[in-house]
Amino acid sequence: MVVEKIESTLALVKPDAFDNTENIITIIKRNGFVISERQVVTLSKERAAQFYEEHKERSFYDDLTTFMSSGPTLALVLRKADAITSWRQLMGPTNSDKARKEAPDSIRAKFGTDGSKNATHGSDSPQSAAREIAFFFPEYQHSSEFNGQDVREY
Ligand code: TYD
Ligand code: MG
Repeated sequence: MVVEKIESTLALVKPDAFDNTENIITIIKRNGFVISERQVVTLSKERAAQFYEEHKERSFYDDLTTFMSSGPTLALVLRKADAITSWRQLMGPTNSDKARKEAPDSIRAKFGTDGSKNATHGSDSPQSAAREIAFFFPEYQHSSEFNGQDVREY
């Protein structure tokens, strides 16, 4: 029997796209992801700063954390084979204006605002996925990452 390794990644629907949550979830499901956790949160500025700590020396850090604490965010855990890369591909380029030129069907092209308010987040590596899933879902079990058995689905 071939057992396919299922990956988990953290996806966020950011405040600028929160009103488009249902459309984005439809696209996520159409692309074969299983949503195994979901939670609506409004981040404090401090918690947004902690989430994006890797960027603390960057010029956009203050604007980014102000934006991320400006309204509700939907946090999701997405599962499928190669979920981390696959979700980043579906989101498209970081800059939504660039996405509209280079990847017009991508989520950031369709729902993002500009170069910094860009609709969604996705983990960029297995290490960041583990950290970011634990940030929102400390109880999440990574142990049954095979074929999705015993996994909740929203
Ligand atoms: P980054 O981790 O580089 O992009 P991604 O979200 O694609 O992994 O940056 C984190 C967020 O910071 C990004 O989603 C939007 C914002 N940002 C800016 O506002 N200006 C910038 O020049 C960059 C690179 C990012
Ligand atoms: Mg990033």
